[in-house]
Amino acid sequence: MSRREELKTRILDLVGAYYDEVHRPKPWREGDRIPYGGRVFDAEEMKALTEACLDFWLTSGRWSSAFEERFASYLGVGRSLLVNSGSSANLLAFMALTSPLLGDQALRRGDEVITVAAGFPTTVAPIVQYGAVPVFVDVTLPTGNVDVGALDEALSERTKAVFLAHTLGNPFDVKAVRAFCDRHSLWLVEDNCDALGSEVLAEGGRRLTGTFGDLATSSFYPPHHMTMGEGGAVCTSDERLHRIVLSLRDWGRDCVCPSGVDDSCGCRFSGQFGTLPFGYDHKYVYSHFGYNLKATDLQAAIGVAQLRKVPAFVEARRRNWAFLRRALESLEDFFLLPEATEGTEPSWFGFLLTVRPQAPFGRDGAVAHLEAKGIQTRMLFAGNLTRHPCFDALRVSGQGWRVVGELDVTDRIMRDTFWIGVYPGLDEARLTRMVEALESLCGRL
Ligand SMILES: Cc1ncc(COP(=O)(O)O)c(C=O)c1O
Repeated sequence: MSRREELKTRILDLVGAYYDEVHRPKPWREGDRIPYGGRVFDAEEMKALTEACLDFWLTSGRWSSAFEERFASYLGVGRSLLVNSGSSANLLAFMALTSPLLGDQALRRGDEVITVAAGFPTTVAPIVQYGAVPVFVDVTLPTGNVDVGALDEALSERTKAVFLAHTLGNPFDVKAVRAFCDRHSLWLVEDNCDALGSEVLAEGGRRLTGTFGDLATSSFYPPHHMTMGEGGAVCTSDERLHRIVLSLRDWGRDCVCPSGVDDSCGCRFSGQFGTLPFGYDHKYVYSHFGYNLKATDLQAAIGVAQLRKVPAFVEARRRNWAFLRRALESLEDFFLLPEATEGTEPSWFGFLLTVRPQAPFGRDGAVAHLEAKGIQTRMLFAGNLTRHPCFDALRVSGQGWRVVGELDVTDRIMRDTFWIGVYPGLDEARLTRMVEALESLCGRL
């Protein structure tokens, strides 16, 4: 063994011991808080991170390439690109649709994108930031997903795309949405940030969400299905879209050489681009007005270790959700309980509860009760995004958005809905505690 290998082995052994001493999960004890989500990891992630530290490559490199390859293969898509967050992934997926390389298919300012207001803001933000028009349709309960019956009404001559998230891991009716997009030649972007591992039962087998859209996005922020701290991915099986996202992610450049690699095409100094002088260095030729949204190898190394655990994480999320669903059946008079979208097997992000009108408590009372008992709760993100202060600025500027119908269910979610965790860090002791807290709220204990 070389000196280098010997040192590395000693360091990694120490990291393993440190994990055991400091981070190994402990059984639940009275008084411990029960979070809605969080990173679930073992010594493997810490060792992978340490290896990447020892490489000291720092930017994207061998770990990033390995992650991109394995993540695409896990999903069953042609390509994945690692980025620094799910929000960056959404920004890139949207901006890719505005690329001049798409010709007449490109989205332009003033074009419309159908989406929902009951969700996470950065599914919608890129649409507004670019100067396109979000068109909000209502959602349905108990799935929490887009009302596909409203899509036809939302359509206009300017509609160019549909951009939707699978709410809390529960797939939207992706077959109906895909068919709608195909019928009207619209782009489909799936925000898969909360739904890694969710499956749609199709003829001939199951298919993961994130494989139906022209583009799909993932987030690796700690509460998500897998984590690398901050991180995200844009996936596509369309080579042209992949190339556009790559360019936008990496400063807008035309060249596809990874960081630290030069002239992989062999014509770095022999191309004609725009009105530049012939042979201008391809590394510095820009085909887009881009960003730098790359992640680092430190993040990717954690991701490589986490990805191996995703099947077990998905199973645990399903098991925990089923435990809560069974145990809370008796509280159906008080809560509208969640249901999987027909024909799907979700990889749940959370357990959605909507307080019924006849319950003797409201949503805020329920949340206060649970939080006081140490059980962390979350809103369904924005509730109704159009009611947030960021929309005031649009009213002032006169920039448009459209609402189809009344968004009644969206408003109900804003008023009556919250969610609790199902993440793999919850064991039976913690889940039982959560159930007991809800039972005591309903006077059943
Ligand atoms: C549906 C959805 N999309 C996008 C994001 C943004 O991901 P990130 O926090 O990695 O930016 C989130 C965040 O949790 C989300 O829930």
